[in-house]
Amino acid sequence: MLCCPTVTLSNGLELPILGLGTSHNGGYSHEAVVYALQECGVRHIDTAKRYGCEEYLAKAVRESGVPRQDVWLTTKLWPGDYGYSNTKQACRASCARLGVEYLDLYLMHWPDCMVPGRSNREMRAETWRALEELYDEGLCRAIGVSNFLIPHLEELKEDCSIVPHVNQVEYHPFQQPEEIVQYCQQQGIVFEGYCPLAKGQALSHPTILKMADKYEHTPSQICIRWSIQNGVVTIPKSTKKKRILENCNVFGFQLEDTDMVSLRMLHDGRHVTWDPTHVP
Ligand SMILES: NC(=O)c1ccc[n+]([C@@H]2O[C@H](COP(=O)([O-])OP(=O)(O)OC[C@H]3O[C@@H](n4cnc5c(N)ncnc54)[C@H](OP(=O)(O)O)[C@@H]3O)[C@@H](O)[C@H]2O)c1
Repeated sequence: MLCCPTVTLSNGLELPILGLGTSHNGGYSHEAVVYALQECGVRHIDTAKRYGCEEYLAKAVRESGVPRQDVWLTTKLWPGDYGYSNTKQACRASCARLGVEYLDLYLMHWPDCMVPGRSNREMRAETWRALEELYDEGLCRAIGVSNFLIPHLEELKEDCSIVPHVNQVEYHPFQQPEEIVQYCQQQGIVFEGYCPLAKGQALSHPTILKMADKYEHTPSQICIRWSIQNGVVTIPKSTKKKRILENCNVFGFQLEDTDMVSLRMLHDGRHVTWDPTHVP
């Protein structure tokens, strides 16, 4: 990878704009993560308790020989662990599984809390207050949310004191939530996009195939480059060394404005994961 640019969080931390995703259901390969760190210069890894690979990541980072402080590690708090004391416990347990003393970024994974007798708003606020304390204690260098829509963020702003440093949301050519992107920008929240390849669906779209030809890069590189040129932090996932290397080689070319516009036109609102639209 050519030098990976960073995005500055509201607390001054520098988050590499390109990271490596991990996930459950075949979303993890030890060798691929070690390769990404050693050979591709990847310095940002995204995971979650939910993905069940935090322990494996600890082993991969150790084996890579890359110093802990040089790798940005994001993990996520699962709704089953929401609530003040559960959150604190879950954070320490994630740190233990990852073999680290601190997390670079800790995200609330999903806005729905599913706790009988408690409103989502109340539970999100209680959980966030625990995250604020974990941040103050230095256990989390940055804290954020994922899949939060504007109303969720507005409520959190009224109920709590620290504005999330990051909101991680689905973002690819078919899913461009421009209102949230703009809202985050106005509020000083870094917008991070997940599923940049639309889980592979974007890789066979004719417009993207045509651009891949034109720029002599692959469809995947076009999608990742497009996110980056929009200033959106992006975390493509692959378990294959060759693809990880390919996904990292996105800093040596530039999409023209007209092509950025053509890609913008591909938005059709589809979600390739879950859709938080109806979460109260
Ligand atoms: N916060 C959330 O709620 C949330 C939700 C979903 C995802 N995420 C995060 O976002 C990351 C990425 O999302 P995702 O994995 O769902 O979707 P994605 O990155 O859009 O697509 C991944 C898929 O594309 C394939 N792929 C990767 N690079 C490729 C290439 N160069 N050529 C052809 N195929 C390629 C992968 O297969 P192989 O592995 O076989 O290469 C995999 O099937 C996740 O790992 C996770 O960290 C967060």
